[in-house]
Amino acid sequence: MNKDIKEVLLSHEEILTITKKLGSLISADYKNSSKPILLGLLKGCVPFMSYLMNYLTFPLEIEFMDVSSYGNDIKSSGDVKIKKDIDVSVFNRDVIICEDIVDTGQTLNTVIRLLHHRGARSVEVVTLLDKPDGRITPFKPKYIGYVIPKVFVVGFGLDYQQYYRNLPYIGILKESIYKK
Ligand code: PRP
Repeated sequence: MNKDIKEVLLSHEEILTITKKLGSLISADYKNSSKPILLGLLKGCVPFMSYLMNYLTFPLEIEFMDVSSYGNDIKSSGDVKIKKDIDVSVFNRDVIICEDIVDTGQTLNTVIRLLHHRGARSVEVVTLLDKPDGRITPFKPKYIGYVIPKVFVVGFGLDYQQYYRNLPYIGILKESIYKK
């Protein structure tokens, strides 16, 4: 896999440092909240969420939704599908959505609208990566780990055609891989 990477954007150590910082920020903000739900959007969230939750110092529940927008391509399809819904009611609950990346903003706009419609008390977003130049729908996550330019990245949960998620770092994929 390493040979398919043009440039490493975030090393594993840098990801850890960023995650710890986000963890303490969120822990300070939610110390008086009543058992928020940390809601991971599968599958990309898995490595980041599993690290982040270690640095959250308040009681919480973890939940997952599987919402897909990219299909198997390198661009968002704009067509947001809910493939697996959350298992519990969000009514009157504080929800922290955990994402690997925010790109067009369409996934989060759809999910946030749905959670508010279901009566969530508050909905905030923590994302490891933010790609603001990719936005189609205006959106600003509250907790951002690292801002990236408009490049296609893989690793630490992020995939190309379902591969590279297990790379321990975030890297830019060589164009030759997806322009074959
Ligand atoms: C990716 C990523 C975000 C979403 C961001 O998920 O994990 O959930 O796209 O894109 P957007 O801001 O343009 O909506 P994807 O649908 O590829 O599923 P995955 O997490 O299973 O890879």
